[in-house]
Amino acid sequence: MLTENILGLNAYHGDSSAALLVNGQLTAAVEEERYNRIKHWAGLPALAAAGCMKMSAVESIQHIAVSRDPSARLLEKALRVATTPSIWRAAANRAVNSAKIAQIKTDLVEGGLHGAAGAKLHFVEHHRAHMASAFFASPFDEAAVVSVDGFGDFSSVMWGVGRGNKLDVRGSVSFPHSLGLFYTAFTQFLGFPKYGDEYKMMGLGAYGEPRYTADVRRVVRVEDDQVILNLDFFQHHTGNVNMTWEGGEPELSAVFSPYFTEVFGTPRVPRSEITQQHMDMAASAQAVLEEVYFKLLNYIQKQSGLKAVCLAGGVALNCVANGKIFEQTSFRDVYVQPAAHDAGTSIGAALYVRHQVLGQPRSFEMKHVYYGEAFDDTQIKKTLDEAGVVYETLSEVEIINRTARLIADGNIVGWFQGRMEFGPRALGNRSILADPRRHDMKDILNSRIKLREPFRPFCPSVLRQASGEFFESNYPSPFMVMAYNIRPEQRPRIPAVTHGDGTGRLQTVEPDVNPLYWKLINRFGEITTVPILLNTSFNENEPIVQTPQQALDCFLRTRMDVLAIGNNLLVKSANGDSANVNSPSSAPDLNRPPRKATT
Ligand SMILES: [Fe+2]
Repeated sequence: MLTENILGLNAYHGDSSAALLVNGQLTAAVEEERYNRIKHWAGLPALAAAGCMKMSAVESIQHIAVSRDPSARLLEKALRVATTPSIWRAAANRAVNSAKIAQIKTDLVEGGLHGAAGAKLHFVEHHRAHMASAFFASPFDEAAVVSVDGFGDFSSVMWGVGRGNKLDVRGSVSFPHSLGLFYTAFTQFLGFPKYGDEYKMMGLGAYGEPRYTADVRRVVRVEDDQVILNLDFFQHHTGNVNMTWEGGEPELSAVFSPYFTEVFGTPRVPRSEITQQHMDMAASAQAVLEEVYFKLLNYIQKQSGLKAVCLAGGVALNCVANGKIFEQTSFRDVYVQPAAHDAGTSIGAALYVRHQVLGQPRSFEMKHVYYGEAFDDTQIKKTLDEAGVVYETLSEVEIINRTARLIADGNIVGWFQGRMEFGPRALGNRSILADPRRHDMKDILNSRIKLREPFRPFCPSVLRQASGEFFESNYPSPFMVMAYNIRPEQRPRIPAVTHGDGTGRLQTVEPDVNPLYWKLINRFGEITTVPILLNTSFNENEPIVQTPQQALDCFLRTRMDVLAIGNNLLVKSANGDSANVNSPSSAPDLNRPPRKATT
């Protein structure tokens, strides 16, 4: 059988990434930021592309699929530019990126990716790539498919029906209207200006009352499948908005207009005090997002007549809304692409070419996200030995037992195992783990390692078979993109992962998907009767760690207590040494100074 290798790319767009399909099976997927260490990096994913080929032991590729189509909606773009001279500059920027896209193969080959020389180049419209990333990765043979984001290729919503190996697009929403941009406007207004900060406003909303929904409803509405912004509240369509790419990290200037501030008041200054009013505003924006989202989904459900839905696009990372889909819509099954944001379009573009363009049958389901780099014990030990740290090498059973016990005793553990996750969530291979039963654990983690806003939740990983005992919904949530209500009687048992509104953004862990992580949580459950771990990403204001060296550096410079890396265990002792611990340590002291492992 001829091998068919398709390299998918999200290029010159936030969260640049690469993914590789070998005969229809995803073999590797990784964001460029994990290599170049620049968050949300938005250029050519050359290192990620090379990494995917190396991880897959592939030397040549037959197709390159880029999740952007410079020719998409040209007429609309031309009309818009012609009638709005002030957006010429933005259009010129887009043209520059389009030119880069056009010569992407040449740049990759000249950059050293010689295996791409003979590949056929395909351009896949941004939202078609989002849709393909959800449907063709899902377990469904037939489903409604919906993509909702800020913008991509001049669209902000696209929906249709997926059947077998075909996607049929039924509708879309064009620039300047966008539900994602509505949410971005309030995120910026509330003092979170960075690319991808929308999740912060979502976290803040849990502490507010939606007192301003009447005013917020004036900003956005939906008619059938058309999301309609009241453009008085915006300025992105006037040319007064810049997307800059300084240092490769995308940054968007304020999209809300002076009229927006007339109605909603003075924008919060970033890092200034957060008041109840800010929390209420966040809750109101979230409430209206949900109203529009569910109305749109219900319209699509009726039009398609289908009971399953596949979701992608940045708005599909809104886990608070996702957690209410069964309650608020007539859909009865849902698959959310775990990398629903733009990184996932590299997978989507490759799947689109495989099925929609080449007509190949489906044979793949994306059940996990472990498609990144892995490091064997030799590589890990070399890193540890060169750093001169003290560690113990254990059997698998021992590393599970010791780590579970250390977590139960209140230690914060860096857990570095197997292949790195693709997408925004650490799901048990590059994770920092802690005891969810401790009231103070959220504050300890925030003050010691994550240095982040106190209103942001920490999330639970729970054994799949135990999720119904703790959560009101029993529907699987393997990718941490659904927030469910925690049963009220269980909330006091797991305070560190119970958010302000009583929900938890959970990951349900199956034994056949991540056996090692499942065993660790199971062991923790045997010790504590709570088969749940607090799981946050292994990083400190940086992209998630990829290599053993990055993990060790993060462990040493933060006040993490333990590092379990492969089968090796490092424990910081109270005197600052990295030393072996043979007996359970005591619970951490909040007031102690940072500890440093010595070399
Ligand atoms: Fe997108």
